[in-house]
Order: sequence, then C-alpha cells, then structure tokens
Amino acid sequence: MAVLSPKTSTEAIELENKYGAHNYHPLPVVLNKGEGVYVWDIEGKKYYDFLSAYSAVNQGHCHPKIVNAMISQAQTLSLTSRAFYNDMLGKYEKFATELFGFDKLLPMNTGAEAVETALKLSRKWAYEVKGIEENKAEIIVCENNFHGRTTTIISFSNDPVARKNFGPYTNGFIKIAYDNLQALEEALKSSKNIAAFLVEPIQGEAGVYVPSEGYLAAAKALCKKHNVLFIADEVQTGIARTGRMLAVDHEEVKPDILILGKALSGGAYPVSAVLADDAVMNVIKPGNHGSTFGGNPIAAAVAIAALEVVFDEKLAENAERLGIIFREELSAFAKENELVKSVRGKGLLNAVLINDTEESSTAWDICIQLRDNGLLAKPTHGNIIRFAPPLVMTEAQLRDCIEIIKTTIKNFKS
Ligand SMILES: Cc1ncc(COP(=O)(O)O)c(C=O)c1O
Repeated sequence: MAVLSPKTSTEAIELENKYGAHNYHPLPVVLNKGEGVYVWDIEGKKYYDFLSAYSAVNQGHCHPKIVNAMISQAQTLSLTSRAFYNDMLGKYEKFATELFGFDKLLPMNTGAEAVETALKLSRKWAYEVKGIEENKAEIIVCENNFHGRTTTIISFSNDPVARKNFGPYTNGFIKIAYDNLQALEEALKSSKNIAAFLVEPIQGEAGVYVPSEGYLAAAKALCKKHNVLFIADEVQTGIARTGRMLAVDHEEVKPDILILGKALSGGAYPVSAVLADDAVMNVIKPGNHGSTFGGNPIAAAVAIAALEVVFDEKLAENAERLGIIFREELSAFAKENELVKSVRGKGLLNAVLINDTEESSTAWDICIQLRDNGLLAKPTHGNIIRFAPPLVMTEAQLRDCIEIIKTTIKNFKS
C-alpha cells in the first residue's frame, strides 16, 4: 500500500480532517521543520514559534545535544520494559532526584499519566501512612484547573467541553477557588479525610493566571499543618519556563509531590515523572503501578540531555530576563492600543488579554494574522492569547517578535 505524502498545506489539512479524529482545532498552518526558535511550513515559510508545543520545546526545536542523545541511545537500546533493569534508568533517576532535591523518581510518559500517578500515590499514602479509612480519601483541587485528559482528571475539571458525556466520573475531589487561602483552609478543616492538595503554580491552560505572591508558600504551610500532601503540577510551568527551574522556586516551596512532563525531554520524546521523598514514595510496591514505556532507556538519555541543556545554556535566567522585557513592552503597548487589555505572566509564560468578549473570535483572528506575519501563537481561552516561545530565544529575536505582535495588533482588521 502506498503512503501519500501531502505536497501542500491544503492537502495535509485535508488528510488530517478526513482520516484523523477531530479532537483538536489547530491553527491552519502545516509545519515540517523546526530549529531553535523557528519552524517552517510545507511551502517553506519561516515562523517564530511562540507556543513551544505548550511549553514542551523550552530547549528549542531539534536541539542537537538532545537529538544526539536520542539517536545514540536509540541505536543502542530503546526499550526493555521494567521486567528487566537497564543501565540508563538508575543513572537518570540519580541525576534528576539530586537536581530537584527528592529521594525518588517514578518515571512515566505523558503529563496526564504523571498526574494520575501523583493522585494514586497520595491516596495510597493517605491510607497507609496517614491512616484514613479505606476509600474515604479526598483530594483538594482548584477551579479552572487543567491537569490532562484521563477519566479521573476530567472528573474534577470544570470545563464543560472536556467533561460532557464522559461520565460517570471519579469521586473523591473537592474543588476550591484558585489563589484563595481562606478557601483552602476551610476545605482542609472540613474533613479528616484529605490526602492532598493538587495545584498548578500558575494556571497555564486556564489563561496564565499567576497567583498572588506568597500563595504557594502559604498553601504549602497550611497543608503541612493539616498533614496533607502538597502536589505541584509543574508539567507546564517547570523546566525553566517561568524564570526558575520550577515555578515553586519563586517562593522557595518544596512540594511533597512534584509532577514534571513536557520540557523534561525538550519536546523530543514523551517523558514525565513524579518525584517525592521516601516517606511518600515508599508506599508504592512492585505491581502497584507502572507503564511499559515509563523509564525506557531513550527517555532516560533524552531527559538527562534536556536537563543539562537548561543549565548549560542558562535558560531559566534567559526566561526571567526576556519575560521582563516582554511584559514591559506589551504593558506599555496596552496603554496606547484599545484592543489589548493587559499582559500577565512570569518568565516566558505570558498571556495577552484581548479587549473583547470571551465568545468573540478576535483573539483567534489576531493569531491568524500573526501567522501571516511570521509568528505562531494560539488563544488559550476565548480572548486570551498565550505567548510562550522556546527559552533559547535571544533578546534581538524577542524584540523582533514584539514588533510583529504590536504591528499585527495595530493593523488588525476583523
Ligand atoms: C499543568 C498540566 N498538567 C498536565 C498536563 C497534561 O499533559 P499531557 O498533555 O502530556 O498529558 C498539561 C498539558 O497541557 C498541563 O498543562
């Protein structure tokens, strides 16, 4: 059977539309090459990538060090399953646990799997260490959260599009307002059966909501007081995106359970992980949890290289510095342009709020015109555009991008 290679963007889009499930609504652009901060479409047009595959490509597209680590490991040993040991997993686990300051790491593949792992881990800890009666454990989560797409995770989402007709849902979750310490304290006091509090240090998918300064540290202290595990989902905010290795580092918080994904591999390969100290992680025994691909040698080699790149190239420092420039420039622009309401974010995870209703197509239409002008970004929700370029961007490239964004919005016609 012949495999058809699409020659134009139109052909490629038609193929996906006809043969693929319609579970996404992509911006109409078909990419076939990436390097650093740039991507190219089938027709050869070059763009700045200002989404970085939802913050997975922090180290830039096709980073040579990461690609070489992947090729070399793929040519040596790719998969053993955990039925046997391999010589890469322990090396990676030592490196990553020392780097993030935890006793142990549990390797998975996608962000959602790592979140599931953290939920299971915290429930088991609650029964076996905290002493909660079986099947009574509850986990506190935040409104407008985004933690992935599994049945359990969407059970505590409040996005109707992600939930509707996927029930019955998983029980055992209490939802509170984000960035609200009083709500957290009340929830913690409301029941003796609380196992954990699961939180995104910045709510990325919801529209880059940055909590008040001190929220994470105070939330962690409240959890500690009530003997409840503080779980940080850093799948999107971690690995230098917000100007620190982890977003919780801004408040010097050490979570009880840390969830990583996306840029843990620089976007080269699906690699996620859950980290915790022995007092928590040791409740997991052989047979309790696992994944055929989790902790495979390629994933281990790629993750080591991806983390080394973050340090070698000082990506956290770069994200911090460029983020300040981005927000300064666009905040000043917001004062003179009525289409832009405000800009918010941390490091290079930022959002621009468009002055229109949530239901309007203005943000989408602006993204189409940004695409025409050589920059790719996408609305998160309705009128909010997320701007998250690879962290290997230079200041000159950032300033070029700021000009593209300003000019596009100034000249925008709906
Ligand atoms: C905070 C957070 N958690 C979990 C996930 C799910 O990750 P994945 O899409 O790899 O399953 C995402 C994805 O955007 C995320 O932003």
